[in-house]
Amino acid sequence: MDEILGGRRMRRNRRADWSRRLVRETVLTTNDLIWPIFVVEGAGIRQPVPSMPGVERLSVDEAVKDAVKAESLGIPAIALFPYTDPALRDPTGSEALNPDNLVCQTCRAIKQEGLNVGLMTDVALDPYTSHGHDGLMDGETILNDETVDQLCRQALNQVEAGADIIGPSDMMDGRVAAIRQAMDANNFRDVQIMSYAAKYASAFYGPFRDAVGTNATLIGDKRTYQMDAANTDEAIREAELDIAEGADMIMVKPGMPYLDILWRLKDTFRMPTYAYQVSGEFAMIEAAGANGWIDRDRAMVESLMAFKRAGADGILTYFAPQVASLLARAL
Ligand code: PBG
Repeated sequence: MDEILGGRRMRRNRRADWSRRLVRETVLTTNDLIWPIFVVEGAGIRQPVPSMPGVERLSVDEAVKDAVKAESLGIPAIALFPYTDPALRDPTGSEALNPDNLVCQTCRAIKQEGLNVGLMTDVALDPYTSHGHDGLMDGETILNDETVDQLCRQALNQVEAGADIIGPSDMMDGRVAAIRQAMDANNFRDVQIMSYAAKYASAFYGPFRDAVGTNATLIGDKRTYQMDAANTDEAIREAELDIAEGADMIMVKPGMPYLDILWRLKDTFRMPTYAYQVSGEFAMIEAAGANGWIDRDRAMVESLMAFKRAGADGILTYFAPQVASLLARAL
């Protein structure tokens, strides 16, 4: 064997814990986490989402508590997603423009705490429309330019309530440029835009749609605006446009099935680049863990490490509080 190997033994560096730590290339830290939080009308409410074990819809007061928890755990940012009362959903998603809607209420309440936590809000109409689409519709068509106008007003509504990072997740053309222009024109020059640059029409969003109530409302699918799972060069063009339009950070979504896209975008643009470990990915790990088929905690950390290795600067993940606690204990 020595003759064949000529002294080259890869296992040497792996033989002890201290040595494995010494040669480790990638680190996962709490600074890499963005925690998505679901909000719902009411007070004192923590409503479990059955398809996302451990995840709850929170009333504004409870969301404030979790924002405080995020700060104490060292999680740099949270992202808000509303479950809008079905009675408030209409074809144009007008509730998105209500200065006192759930997201705005939550932003104001969290901002009042003066936390060292970034507040990200989602720009898209789907939690507000009666048809569950991210845009305005004319018959079966999702209107691009009319939607972009509405998204600019939605984004302004959110930053007026205190949002720090705008996350357009709608995949309309030109929305990053339009939102950036709207921000600049209204003296919100420091608002960051994290564009969902490459967002795919994916089956992995199912549990999220339970959480925000859009499985019940969505008519048809989102293939005319979200990307085809088969495409990779198209992701480059999407990201290139969003960066040219003024995005500060770009995102790939879903996460684990699209690590190749993450790698290509980071490698090509060298931008702050994020992965969204979406609800279906979270649910799979939770479900297999609950069945004893995989070690949940190890799978959780391994999945997040994979994003880092593939070039992510951070990860939006429902595991954020658990992994932050785990990392704190490990220190
Ligand atoms: C909608 C939106 C979706 C997610 C974030 N924003 C779902 C969709 O496009 O239908 C999915 C997140 C997840 O699955 O965790 N604008």
